[in-house]
Amino acid sequence: MSSLLPGGNTFNPDNDIPDLSGKHYIVTGGSAGIGFGIAAHLLQHKAENVTILSNKEEHGESALEELKEYGDATKAHWVQCNLKDLKATEKVANDLAKSQDRLDGLVLNAGVGVGVYNETKDKLDSHFQVNVLSQFLLLKKLLPRLQQTPGSRLVFESSDLHQGADGSTQFKDEAEINTDIGPTKLYNRSKLAQILLARALQRRQEAGELGFKPDQKVFINAVHPGAVDTDQPLQAEEAYGKAGVIGHNLVKPFMKDPVSKGCRPALFATTSKEIEEKGITGEYIVPDKKVTSPTSKAMDVELGEQLWRLSEQLLKDRLG
Ligand SMILES: NC(=O)c1ccc[n+]([C@@H]2O[C@H](COP(=O)([O-])OP(=O)(O)OC[C@H]3O[C@@H](n4cnc5c(N)ncnc54)[C@H](OP(=O)(O)O)[C@@H]3O)[C@@H](O)[C@H]2O)c1
Repeated sequence: MSSLLPGGNTFNPDNDIPDLSGKHYIVTGGSAGIGFGIAAHLLQHKAENVTILSNKEEHGESALEELKEYGDATKAHWVQCNLKDLKATEKVANDLAKSQDRLDGLVLNAGVGVGVYNETKDKLDSHFQVNVLSQFLLLKKLLPRLQQTPGSRLVFESSDLHQGADGSTQFKDEAEINTDIGPTKLYNRSKLAQILLARALQRRQEAGELGFKPDQKVFINAVHPGAVDTDQPLQAEEAYGKAGVIGHNLVKPFMKDPVSKGCRPALFATTSKEIEEKGITGEYIVPDKKVTSPTSKAMDVELGEQLWRLSEQLLKDRLG
């Protein structure tokens, strides 16, 4: 089913985000690109606390400096979190779960792009670990905070490139995750996994599992930002050499600015009252705010359950 919500399909973050006074947000990858755009607009609309999680200190520092243009930057915080390191991510998640007494929105936006296969410290494909597994860990640790905050939001920054995930994807075991299927398919698979996990979590919410209660709804959605002019496409240049550079140069003039446009679907899902009023949860949202269907593979319940089991197992193997 594909539906345009009443009121058109535009969500202009300058005008359409409500007052966020008193609200707390965590944005992974908020130091650059789309995530920076998300953090900037949360601050612009008076959020009480915007915590950015990312890895590179220089990006964190420059983001905090640039955020001064958008609002009271004393409300913005940067926490180093290397998603290529599960133990470090677990510590950050535990510390945040202790220090935040409310969480109005968790935006799982950090990601590596189309890039060559490499393994993390935890001996896992970096696309899967950064884009999926470490953020699954963050969400599991922070879920009780979302559940205790009325009208809270959980947002996965996925991509229409999930449509290109390999047809043979089963999320069967670690060996499948650690098979080099090429830069584009590794990325596409990770974006498919995000939608599957969003939907699997929504099923648990509906079933009243994992601490979900009927009167404390978390609005869980996956979004696609469009083609956005950030550092991410440069990673494809590295992966595909000259062909990647030519490809990027061809599409660059048509790409969106991350701060004015690329952040829109995520900000709609994170802040709009329409989400609550229309009960939009477990959905896939494309620019700016169109609720649409992802691929049949992304809606495959058994595939989602298998991914959930594998993710739990991989975390157990590494973290105990
Ligand atoms: N750009 C597009 O056209 C497009 C299209 C569809 C979907 N998306 C999705 O949108 C999201 C944001 O992408 P973007 O284009 O804004 O990319 P970007 O400009 O490259 O920003 C990526 C962000 O992720 C963080 N990150 C990367 N590796 C990390 C790690 N190991 N640990 C912690 N943080 C890490 C980066 O922080 P550091 O600088 O500290 O590494 C940075 O803040 C991604 O999930 C991407 O897949 C983008």
